[in-house]
Amino acid sequence: MKKIIKFVQQEMKNDSTGHDFYHADRVARLAKTLYLLENEENKDSIKIILAAGYLHDVIDPKLTEDIDKKKRKIIFILKESDFSCKDIEKIIYIIENMSFSKNLEQRRKLPLEGLYVQDADRLDALGAIGIARAFAFGGKKDNLIYDPNIKPNIKHDEKSYKKRNSTSINHFYEKLFNLHQKMNTNVGKSIAIKRTNFMKKYLNEFFEEWNIKNEY
Ligand code: ADP
Ligand code: NI
Repeated sequence: MKKIIKFVQQEMKNDSTGHDFYHADRVARLAKTLYLLENEENKDSIKIILAAGYLHDVIDPKLTEDIDKKKRKIIFILKESDFSCKDIEKIIYIIENMSFSKNLEQRRKLPLEGLYVQDADRLDALGAIGIARAFAFGGKKDNLIYDPNIKPNIKHDEKSYKKRNSTSINHFYEKLFNLHQKMNTNVGKSIAIKRTNFMKKYLNEFFEEWNIKNEY
């Protein structure tokens, strides 16, 4: 795993949209933890989960311009790290099909290992870290923190989701508060609910401060 980690550190080191190396690192570690809570230990599956977790955002179109080149690099590193062709195919399939936007139009079927990586990725968009990431992403995209005149817009397809310009707070309603319903695994779902509840408490506080009701 060392070579993979080094590669991902290099690839993601300059990201300030919440998709930095530590996002990949949290996803890889959480996915493994979730897997072990629901399954007997299987060394091959754990290796696939960690590799897919670390690599999952390297070929995200939001973060790279040359997807094919990145894909070739990933395959090269996986070969160097002694993954079999079958495992490499599985890892590439997982990272190509797990993203939120890919699953908006049609839910893609993932292998067992992918279910945990996808849940861990979604969980990293929730809770205290999820809040930090949403504001980091929104700021980088020149979106406002919040504007009471811009109402949340529940998007329907991949294109309108990507094109739209909204606020970071609206993103909570447009995407993040629906994530817990989309979790694959029971353990993922229960953590998602806990993290979503925390975000709702955070928003209560946010709006109380915004409206300055009975506060001072
Ligand atoms: P995926 O890579 O699974 O398709 P995204 O890249 O859209 O998911 O989301 C990853 C992170 O970026 C999440 O933490 C999410 O909250 C944040 N993010 C994505 N779009 C926005 C947005 N419009 N405003 C604020 N945060 C966003
Ligand atoms: Ni991710």
